[in-house]
Amino acid sequence: MAPHDDAPLLERNASEQAGRADAGLLDRYTAVRQASVDIAAPLSAEDQAGQSMPDASPTKWHLAHTTWFWETFLLKPGLEGYGEFDPAFGYLFNSYYEAVGARHPRPARGLLTRPSVAQVMAYRAHVDEAMRRFLRQDIGRDAAALVELGLAHEEQHQELALMDILSLFAANPINPTYCTAWPPSRAARRGAEMIAFAGGRAGIGHEGPGFAFDNEGPRHDVLLRPYRLASRLVTNGEWLEFMADGGYRRPEFWLADGWSRVQAEGWAAPLYWRPCATGWSALGLGGLSPVDPAGPVRHVSYYEAAAFAAWAGKRLPTEAEWEAAAGDPRLEQLDDEVWQWTASAYSPHPGFSAAPGAVGEYNGKFMVGQMVLKGGARITPPGHTRASYRNFFYPHQRWMFAGLRLADDDAPASQGEDAFRADVVAGLSAPRKTLPAKWFYDARGSDLFEAITELPEYYPTRQERALLERVAPEIAATIAQDAVLVELGSGASVKTRLLLDAAPQIAAYAPIDISASALEAAADAIRRDYPRLRVAPLERDFTAADSLGADLPAGPRLGFFPGSTIGNFAPAEAVALLGRIHTLLGEGSRLLIGVDLAKDATTLNAAYDDAAGVTAAFNLNILARINRELAGDFDLADFAHRAAWNRLEGRVEMHLEVLRSHRAHAAGVAFDFVAGETIHTENSYKFTVEGFRALAARAGWGVRRTWISPAPEFAVLLLD
Ligand SMILES: C[S@@+](CC[C@H](N)C(=O)[O-])C[C@H]1O[C@@H](n2cnc3c(N)ncnc32)[C@H](O)[C@@H]1O
Repeated sequence: MAPHDDAPLLERNASEQAGRADAGLLDRYTAVRQASVDIAAPLSAEDQAGQSMPDASPTKWHLAHTTWFWETFLLKPGLEGYGEFDPAFGYLFNSYYEAVGARHPRPARGLLTRPSVAQVMAYRAHVDEAMRRFLRQDIGRDAAALVELGLAHEEQHQELALMDILSLFAANPINPTYCTAWPPSRAARRGAEMIAFAGGRAGIGHEGPGFAFDNEGPRHDVLLRPYRLASRLVTNGEWLEFMADGGYRRPEFWLADGWSRVQAEGWAAPLYWRPCATGWSALGLGGLSPVDPAGPVRHVSYYEAAAFAAWAGKRLPTEAEWEAAAGDPRLEQLDDEVWQWTASAYSPHPGFSAAPGAVGEYNGKFMVGQMVLKGGARITPPGHTRASYRNFFYPHQRWMFAGLRLADDDAPASQGEDAFRADVVAGLSAPRKTLPAKWFYDARGSDLFEAITELPEYYPTRQERALLERVAPEIAATIAQDAVLVELGSGASVKTRLLLDAAPQIAAYAPIDISASALEAAADAIRRDYPRLRVAPLERDFTAADSLGADLPAGPRLGFFPGSTIGNFAPAEAVALLGRIHTLLGEGSRLLIGVDLAKDATTLNAAYDDAAGVTAAFNLNILARINRELAGDFDLADFAHRAAWNRLEGRVEMHLEVLRSHRAHAAGVAFDFVAGETIHTENSYKFTVEGFRALAARAGWGVRRTWISPAPEFAVLLLD
């Protein structure tokens, strides 16, 4: 829709896409033509002749102009023997096609009391009869494409006609009602929420089959920073707050041009709002009624929308942000209430070129000074728009059904957030979905893991702790004076205390953990309980750490890697990690490592699928974390915890099984889940002492000592 009589015209690649005329095209032609007549039905002949302002046109003129379009572009050149209805109509009803000839001045259309409505209807009947004949022929691809364009063109005029009728009635002090049955606007179903989108590279613009105006292409890539969009439109209630806060009186919210308009035109509320005894009423197509605070605000200019956004501490979305997010089910009221102002100027998409010929002549020259609106409105014919659709108006115009949706910049992701986002998007986009186990450990995940260690079924922690307690003096005897203890995946640093108690010669402790909350709490507790110890925590992914804290003393390094966390890595990864740890600790260092040993399936399965459901909660928590940190919409009830010993692979696997086929979102990306498929969340490889010795050897470690607990067996090895 354009503020002019015709919106962006001419379909890109129309002749390549459209087929021959068929029965469907004739049916659609008939339906679209009838819809225009239906719009005029509640109006008197006088109503149909009035023009409220230069931007608007009389209904009668819209009915005639759309007919002129068919006559000029299809019938005259394409239907043999077609007899023009009235040669004067070309001058009266040409909108702005220079190539077609001179025309009646637009601001004076309301003066055209002749031809009468009856004559215009006769014109329509004449053209419709000829179009029916035309569409029953083999019209060829180019003409079929022009018919598609004509249909979209007439639909645009249907919306323009309704806008213009409301504008006309609003100029009448008796506030006429267009149609008492006109439905009121609908409130959003849910409360407002800012929905986060990851940004990055996004494709916008139209491409492929189906009709689109030429201004919607070419499709091209844009780069978006992380951003957020409001889940719904700004409401009348919120607009009332803006007004109550002096929104129309405080220049600090306004663009300079907008502020000039406020002054010059005395704006104090949206167009068509009237003060009344109870507050405010608004004139709509259904008549004058009290402003509904829950309904979306409409009939606001770009200037007002931008001022409101500034007042709200937000901004308007760009066209690309809006388009890239369109279709996300968390966004309501996308195209069924009001067009939404964007912060984007209406300029050509990169690579756009105006099409040759009369119908294409104006697209390029409208592309200055106007702003893009996206979506669609209640008065837009159903199915008329799409995500790539570009409506455009001048920033001061208000008679369109235009409102706004707020946006803001999403907080720049920290390095950890970026990595989490990247792992989640990659893992859930893979044909066999996975999520890396390291992301289990947010604050809640770390707490749940501590709860797991207390479970009767979860033997590894109990066995390892008891073993360490028993052999701590032997271990201590191997630890050098002023040693630096470097713990990988330190968690709550519980087992650490056994070493610190047995080996007071340890001078410094460097816990490394990816979980900030677990790390800080554990480091504080160790500092408190071991005041002479130097504690230097490092919030890092230990698979990527290549240095320890700079302020560590120079004593010999002893690595500590308990909990069989090494079992979370596939053998090749485990070798790589052990090699990396060797490099991190340096020459002459040692590594004390806990590894869980292979055993019967019953013991293993129970350990990872406890009766109290704590491991299930731990596994599902990763989805809750995604919901919270990556604006996900996972319903945890759609997933079930599964854990089982995989004998062939020598590992216990944890999965989240999908219970119901559905689509979920995170980080602005949609993921489809099929009932029965799983997200593989963790492996816990189990070892034999010999097998682990061979693995460690591949990473350059030799086994100096081995301690094994009673059944269920768990081993602690000292490597050097
Ligand atoms: C199974 S818990 C073991 C905790 C403790 N070491 C123990 O034995 O009880 C694993 C710990 O390693 C941390 N972790 C897991 N993957 C990590 C990674 N790639 N980098 C750093 N820490 C990690 C987790 O945050 C968690 O605290």
